[in-house]
Amino acid sequence: MRGAAMRLNTAVRGFVVVVLSVSVVQSQDGWGVTYTSTQICAVKGSTVEIKYSYTYPSRTQYQITKVQMKLWFTKGFDHQPVDLKSDSDYTGRVEYRSNQKDCTLRITELRESDSAVYKFRFITNQQRGSYTGSPGVTLTVTDLQVQVITSQHGQDGTQVQLKCHSSCLPDHPSYVWMKNGQVTLRETSSTLRYLLFPEDNISCALKGHEEFPSPSVYAPKPPSVSVSPSGEITEATSVTLTCSSDANPAASYTWYKEDEDSLKTSGHNFTISNIRPEHSGSYYCVAHNNRGTHNSTLQLTVAAGAGTLEAAGVTAAVLLPVIFFSVFLWIQKKEDVQGTC
Ligand SMILES: *[C@@H]1O[C@H](CO)[C@@H](O)[C@H](O)[C@H]1NC(C)=O
Ligand SMILES: *[C@@H]1O[C@H](CO)[C@@H](O)[C@H](O)[C@H]1NC(C)=O
Ligand SMILES: *[C@@H]1O[C@H](CO)[C@@H](O)[C@H](O)[C@H]1NC(C)=O
Repeated sequence: MRGAAMRLNTAVRGFVVVVLSVSVVQSQDGWGVTYTSTQICAVKGSTVEIKYSYTYPSRTQYQITKVQMKLWFTKGFDHQPVDLKSDSDYTGRVEYRSNQKDCTLRITELRESDSAVYKFRFITNQQRGSYTGSPGVTLTVTDLQVQVITSQHGQDGTQVQLKCHSSCLPDHPSYVWMKNGQVTLRETSSTLRYLLFPEDNISCALKGHEEFPSPSVYAPKPPSVSVSPSGEITEATSVTLTCSSDANPAASYTWYKEDEDSLKTSGHNFTISNIRPEHSGSYYCVAHNNRGTHNSTLQLTVAAGAGTLEAAGVTAAVLLPVIFFSVFLWIQKKEDVQGTC
């Protein structure tokens, strides 16, 4: 355990995030590659440094050994490796550094797609004088994520239990928590209880790596609502009400009509096919996630029959009730035929 703690401290001061196991010499007959760690977990966006060294017989009977090529690869087989330096997925992010004792592979701005097994290979002037350090180093790039485990709404806010989750970090690192962009708690374990107001957003980071926080978790912003097609709505057409809200985790949506308690639909879109004047009214979209709820209203006005509103005012006033009445009869008739109640 002491060993683990020390490794962690070193990791936090340096670039690498957490090293899970240490040093394996992979060698035969003087040929070998040593990696200081074979399992590495790193946070997305950070930089990893993989330290290694390699050995080879300094000469054979016939000649002095010279290293002609060195490379790291994740793709291709031993005999056809794709050098990370020429792999377009790593352009500008990879560096091979070496001094007499220490060699380092450095990868910056880590992406989740960098999660792979990395192997070092070198080729010499000797016959069959090439060597690959297998099985290599497993790098896992994780992003942090705030999980809301429980939430309980009260008068002075919501009491939440949160967890800072990652796919590969062990439980023992220290975390910091940020509320509305400000660090509020340091050195916590991965879970904590917190009192939050509806407008608060919260994120977590690994201590020492505050510059790579998780995305923040927040209640839905007031949803934006729209009608499609836009413009005047005429009866007997099909209309879709759309609701969307910025939220993390993503919001779920429900549509209600004013004065009708019943749920119209759940989901972004509420489609009314064959719309009728009695569909006019106020509709609510409620956006909800485990941090909170927000709603917006949309006013829907259905015009009776295409073209009627173009008529002169007086005529329209006389004509409209007639049209409504005939539409009413038509609907009644149609519904009779369909056998609905
Ligand atoms: C979280 O809060 C900070 C500070 O108030 C703000 O700058 C940021 O935009 C907020 N993020 C979201 C998604 O609301
Ligand atoms: C919702 O409706 C919009 C506009 O009609 C459409 O572009 C979108 O694909 C629909 N989304 C879903 C999930 O049905
Ligand atoms: C919409 O929000 C208002 C104000 O927050 C609230 O009083 C009302 O109950 C909400 N309506 C629905 C249908 O959730």
